[in-house]
Amino acid sequence: MDAKLVLLPGDGIGPEILAQARRVLDAVGRSFGHQFDMSEHPIGGNAIDEFGDPLPQATIDVCRSCDAILLGAVGGPKWDDPTAKTRPEVGLLRLRQELGLFANLRPIRTFEELIDSSPLKRDVIAGTDILFFRELTGGIYFGDSGRRSHESGEAAYNEMVYSTGEVERIVRLAAQAAMERRGKLTSVDKANVLETSRLWRQVAERVVKDEFPTLKYDVVLVDAMAMHLISRPKDFDVVVTGNMFGDILTDEASMLPGSLGLLPSASIGSGGPGLYEPIHGSAPDIAGQNVANPLATLLATAMLLRHSLSLSAEAAAIEAAVDSVLKQGLRTRDIATGDSSVGTTEMGDAILNALS
Ligand code: IPM
Ligand code: MG
Repeated sequence: MDAKLVLLPGDGIGPEILAQARRVLDAVGRSFGHQFDMSEHPIGGNAIDEFGDPLPQATIDVCRSCDAILLGAVGGPKWDDPTAKTRPEVGLLRLRQELGLFANLRPIRTFEELIDSSPLKRDVIAGTDILFFRELTGGIYFGDSGRRSHESGEAAYNEMVYSTGEVERIVRLAAQAAMERRGKLTSVDKANVLETSRLWRQVAERVVKDEFPTLKYDVVLVDAMAMHLISRPKDFDVVVTGNMFGDILTDEASMLPGSLGLLPSASIGSGGPGLYEPIHGSAPDIAGQNVANPLATLLATAMLLRHSLSLSAEAAAIEAAVDSVLKQGLRTRDIATGDSSVGTTEMGDAILNALS
């Protein structure tokens, strides 16, 4: 297979972890006989510095014409000035929106070898296997926002909007996935307070009832979900929720496997190229020190191969390599329990070894 892949390293630890993904893609290409044509393009803070734009036109153009996109992370304190004209995160949000990537899949699975490094108890988390579907191009992230004058100085507002169509399409994808897993779907909202959530709940119930009548379906309020996620995570199969609730709940859920450094994500939409990224951020505090965990990015790479290129065996090979290095006891600093840990490149080396 010939595939055109766009790599967007971004800021902070982004370039270091994508460098490992690139090595792994080269190795997988060689051993399975594929040609991965990879090119790197700017996004985020570095793109602001160089082009005054967190998503330069050339980047979006090349993303539109490729088979799949792998992203590191964007953002950092350098671009955090609240009065700045633009921000690194705007580049990522625009990319998601312009490519119509309305569904963000975030699998949360515990690794047997790491269960004891999670801050949570083994009997609570062992066997957890949740697939989050976070709505990604709507809700409060994309509503009208601004500031207006106020007697106390200023007021700021963000509008939260969801339409029937936006809820239908994400719930449908989540329900389809649930049918292929354990047949259980949980929709998370805040319908006791928010009008958007009341529409969400009505639409979700209708889609499930009309199109997936055999699905086990329940609804949970987002505040209660925050609690259930760490008290009974094994009860959940597929979880579908809006943009901001999904953002928050998946960071919380990352503590089930033990580290944000282990969680990949896939953003897909209406058929164009998918965007794959670790769910963690740019971690500017550890950037450039060769200590970042590349495993989330490598698992995102596996998702890319499986979902965008239909290369299941290749994806499984990467996932098996990740399992194998964890079994060998290799740990980057974020998941190390004792004093010894390996660096980003050493973890990449070990994955390449396990692959060959
Ligand atoms: C994520 C991140 C992003 C988000 C930021 C970087 C804009 O937190 O992908 O979860 O909030 O969506
Ligand atoms: Mg987030």
